[in-house]
Amino acid sequence: MGEEERIVAGQRLSGDLEVGLRPKRLEEYIGQARVKERLAIFIQAAAQRREALDHVLLYGPPGLGKTTLAHVIANELGVPIRFTSGPAIERPGDLAAILTNLEDREVLFIDEVHRLSRQVEEVLYPAMEDFALDLVIGRGPGARSVRLDLPRFTLIGATTRPGLIAPPLRDRFGVLIHLDFYPPEELEAIVTRSAAVLGCAIDTAAAREIARRSRGTPRIANRLLRRLRDFAEVRGTGHLTAEVVAAGLDLLAVDPLGLDPTDRRLLRLLAETYQGGPVGLETLAAAVGEDVGTVEDVLEPYLLQQGFLQRTPRGRMLTLRAFQHLGMTPPPGFLQQAGAPAGPTAQQLRFDEALPEGQ
Ligand code: ADE
Repeated sequence: MGEEERIVAGQRLSGDLEVGLRPKRLEEYIGQARVKERLAIFIQAAAQRREALDHVLLYGPPGLGKTTLAHVIANELGVPIRFTSGPAIERPGDLAAILTNLEDREVLFIDEVHRLSRQVEEVLYPAMEDFALDLVIGRGPGARSVRLDLPRFTLIGATTRPGLIAPPLRDRFGVLIHLDFYPPEELEAIVTRSAAVLGCAIDTAAAREIARRSRGTPRIANRLLRRLRDFAEVRGTGHLTAEVVAAGLDLLAVDPLGLDPTDRRLLRLLAETYQGGPVGLETLAAAVGEDVGTVEDVLEPYLLQQGFLQRTPRGRMLTLRAFQHLGMTPPPGFLQQAGAPAGPTAQQLRFDEALPEGQ
C-alpha cells in the first residue's frame, strides 16, 4: 500500500490545489482561537515598535494550516514571504544566499525545519539571534572570520516533529505555536467557506458530514470537498446534499469516522491475527507492510486520538471501541488480560454511544 496516495492522508498530496482556498487574513482564518488571539497581539506589538516579529515555530500534525498561517502572518505584517524547506537547504552557502537577499522585516518560511543539517543550523544561529552572518575566509591557520550584518527578518519554522529539533534551534524561537486537530464545528465552517470560494452549493448537513469524516484536518476536508463536488456534478445536479455526500464518501471508502481501508486493515490485523494485542510496533509495521516511521507518524495518530488504539509498554493494543467499530466481538479474556490498559469499559462504550460523534 506504500505508494498509493490516501484521500484521508494529512500530508500534502500532488493534486492538492490549496492556494485558492487559503485564508489571507487572521479574521478569515477559522478556528484555533487562542493561537489567533496571541498572534494578533504579537503582530500588533511588533508593528507598533517597527521591529521584525520574533521568530515563530509552528508545530503539529500535517494538514492543520501551518503554511497557511505563515502566509497570514506575513500578510498581517505587510511584508513579503519567502519559502524554503529543511531538505532544500543543502549547504551553508545556500542559506547564506537566502539570508543576504532578504528585505528588511521579511518573513522567511522554512518548512520541515527539523530536517536542517547541523552545518546549516550553525549558520542560522547567529542569523536568528544577532541578524549576522559569520563567514570564514581562507583555510587552515590563516583562516579568519568576518561578520556581515543581515536585514532584520522573521523566521517561521514549521514541523510535524518538534521533538527532532535541536534544542539550541528551538530555544531561538520566541513564539511557539502548537496547532491541534480542529473540532467538527470548526471544520464544518471551513468546509462551508471553501464551498463558497469554489462556488459550490452545499447543505448544512452535507458540510457537517464532510467535517465529521475529515479527521480534524482542514486539508482532508478541502480534499474531500473537491472530490465530492466532482461526484455531485456527474451523478447529481452539482448541489451537495447529505445523500450525495454519503454516497460519494461510500465510493471513496471513507467510513463514518473518517477511517479508510488502510486504517481498517491495521485494526483488523490487530484484531484477527493478534487477538487485539499487545503487539510490538515493529511486528505490527512488518505485518501491514509499512515502515515503523509511517505507522507511528501517519497511521497511528488518528487511531490513537479516536481511542481505537493504545500504546502500552508491551506494545500496541486495540480498544473495545475498535472491536465494536469493526463489528467484531473481542476474544475471550481480552479484557481480563494481566496489565490490560484502561481502555473504555463495555459500560463506558454504551455511554459513549449516547453521545454525538466526536465527543
Ligand atoms: N482552509 C484551510 N484551513 C483553513 C482555516 N483554518 N480557516 C479557513 N480556511 C481554511
